[in-house]
Parts: sequence; structure tokens; C-alpha cells
Amino acid sequence: MDTFQTLYSRKSIRQFNGKGISQDKLAEILKSAYASPIGLKRYDRLELKVITNKSLIEKWEEQTAIVMDREGYKAFYGAPVVVLVCSEVDDGVYANVNYSNAAIVVHNMAIAATALDVGACHIWSAPRALRALPDLQKEMGIASNMVPCCAIALGETDDKYAEREIENQKIKTTFID
Ligand SMILES: Cc1cc2nc3c(=O)[nH]c(=O)nc-3n(C[C@H](O)[C@H](O)[C@H](O)COP(=O)(O)O)c2cc1C
Repeated sequence: MDTFQTLYSRKSIRQFNGKGISQDKLAEILKSAYASPIGLKRYDRLELKVITNKSLIEKWEEQTAIVMDREGYKAFYGAPVVVLVCSEVDDGVYANVNYSNAAIVVHNMAIAATALDVGACHIWSAPRALRALPDLQKEMGIASNMVPCCAIALGETDDKYAEREIENQKIKTTFID
């Protein structure tokens, strides 16, 4: 796929066929995360947790459903791999930089996953719920200065990526001359 085909084929995949992804593909996806632009080059302010422990993912899903009061909600849709992006977060003038960094890291991985034909979905819900789950944060070894910002669910899928029609002005766009 060329760059634009990859961009226009990317979609959120929420159906995984239970197969784990190969180490090579995972390494490539993580490399794409490391290729992300980061505000002020403060790569040291972020940390990725690559979680393949099935029982930990399930426990996180169960506790997310409780925090969100959504019975039966499976935040990761049975994905075998979850990459959590944690960041130091300021309340000050740089606050938005931290969340933007985390989102870019996830999105780079989503684009790489598309190019590799790996199913991927950006997940906000479970990292948000994790903020209310200190014991689970401890189990994941999340340092006290780090905030779970967002995550990506990854796994092999029977769903297919195909180039999509992208509607003009899907996001309202105004031009200021
Ligand atoms: C910041 C952000 C948070 C998201 N959080 C979730 C989520 O928690 N669960 C989920 O299933 N999808 C989540 N998504 C995926 C969006 O629902 C999806 O991108 C949107 O519906 C557009 O569909 P598409 O990705 O297939 O183009 C999130 C996407 C973004 C960018």
C-alpha cells in the first residue's frame, strides 16, 4: 500500500480472530510508535506498556465495565495485544501537548497496523477507567508520575482493509484568507 492508500484504508477494527500477531509485526508497529513526533522531543516523558497477558487484559476489561457502569462491555474486543501509552501530564500550558503526544503515538501504530494488515482500534475508554483503578495500575507497574492516556488494541482479524471513500468536509473546514 502506498501512503494514501494506507491512510484511506485505515479503520477501527473491533473483531479479532484470536490469533496473536507475530513478533516481527509487533516490532514494526512499535518502531512506528518510536517514529512519532513528540512535543519538545520529550520522549522520556512517555512510556509504552505492551500487554499480551490474557488474564490481565480480561481483568482490565472487567474493571473498566464496572467503572463505566456498562455491564458486559469488552473494551478491547478480545484483542490479544494491547499497547497502553502513559505520559507525564502537566496541568499548565503544556497540558494539551501530553495528550496530543499520546494520541499521535497510537495513531502511528494504527497506520502501521493497517499497512501490515493487522487489526487495530484506538481505545480511550479503558485507559480512562484505569485512572480510577490504582491496584491495577500498580500491577502494570505504572509509575506514580505517569497517567494512562490512551491505548491501541491489536490483533489478527478476518476483517479486511479496503480503500474507503472519504467524504469532503467530514470535518467542518473553514478557510480564512
Ligand atoms: C481519541 C479516540 C478515542 C477512541 N476511543 C475508542 C474506544 O474507547 N473504543 C472504541 O471502540 N473506539 C474508540 N475510538 C475509535 C473511534 O470510535 C473511531 O475512530 C471513529 O468511530 C471513526 O471510525 P474509523 O476509525 O473506523 O474511521 C477512538 C478513537 C479516537 C481517535
